[in-house]
Amino acid sequence: MTKLLSLKQLNIGAEILRQGGLVAFPTETVYGLGANALNETAVKNIFKAKGRPSDNPLIVHIADYDALNELVTEIPEKANVLMDKFWPGPLTLVFKKSEKVSKTVSGGLDTVAIRMPKNPVALELIKLSGIPVAAPSANTSGKPSPTKAQYVVDDMSGKIDAIIDGGNCEVGLESTVLDVTGDVPKLLRPGGVTFEQLTEVLGEVEKKFECNDNEKPASPGMKYKHYAPDAKVVVVKNDFENYINICCEKYKNVAVICYGDIKINEKCKLKKVVNSPSEYAEILFSAMRDFDKQNADIILAQDVDDTGINLAIKNRLYRSCGYNFYEKTK
Ligand code: TXA
Ligand code: MG
Repeated sequence: MTKLLSLKQLNIGAEILRQGGLVAFPTETVYGLGANALNETAVKNIFKAKGRPSDNPLIVHIADYDALNELVTEIPEKANVLMDKFWPGPLTLVFKKSEKVSKTVSGGLDTVAIRMPKNPVALELIKLSGIPVAAPSANTSGKPSPTKAQYVVDDMSGKIDAIIDGGNCEVGLESTVLDVTGDVPKLLRPGGVTFEQLTEVLGEVEKKFECNDNEKPASPGMKYKHYAPDAKVVVVKNDFENYINICCEKYKNVAVICYGDIKINEKCKLKKVVNSPSEYAEILFSAMRDFDKQNADIILAQDVDDTGINLAIKNRLYRSCGYNFYEKTK
């Protein structure tokens, strides 16, 4: 049985974590599926509940700097500057791990990813539990990350001990992951803290994530499919209105995610219209999950550029569509 906890019951969630149980909780990015990072059985249960490959490492969530000192062997100066500026917040930093962090948490690596979330519920839960909390996004592996408690219920009901309902996540996409173990910091996943914000503080930052604009992964295929709803997703680069018309002829339930200046065919009943990049980020995963519930056959999502939060939107879009684009060539 999975308990649904209100914000007044955080102490119950904290106790479950201390006892080695699994508790999903809200963060400012997406919901996390938490367990005591120092309890091997608890951490293994996270991988089981999600169906997650064991070589994909977890982020350890902390609420104070003392916890950080115990988990890493070295805090580079650059990391201190970043933490001052962006913690608590949607920035995950990869450090060299201490002995305390098991290879189960680190997916076999010698490093550990650490984040101090900004969401007050997450911070309070971690403080009350008194332990570092390992937490991937609280979705079944491969599905879009959950941005409200109901989506966690949809994926995890019966598989975990409790879910804390903290409403909607404001960022809507996961944290930025930055490796600070080398000379030049490496951006492993674009997210809530933007590339521009990082370079402003650090100078040079190397982009090391899978989808820089049109670059296809070295070996395309299912391995890269991620953040994927059940419906087929196509990212539309241009000629959007015409392509909607074509799809409305071909499919029964066409769903669209786009900006307000696109005129949408009246046959198309499933739509999410956005007005800003931050709104696009906030609704992207929830739109995909809602469209699945409404039996969409195909989801057409408008492409974005590389600036600001758009880089994170693009990264999630390209992976969720499995590099399936529509582009009219002249
Ligand atoms: O916003 C977020 O980061 C959310 C909330 C719950 O905090 N968490 C999240 O976790 O997105 P997850 O497990 O879904 O994604 C963590 C990412 C994965 O791509 C993983 O491979 C990478 O971080 N990662 C974790 N530890 C790493 C490490 N030591 N080195 C390199 N990448 C690491
Ligand atoms: Mg995830």
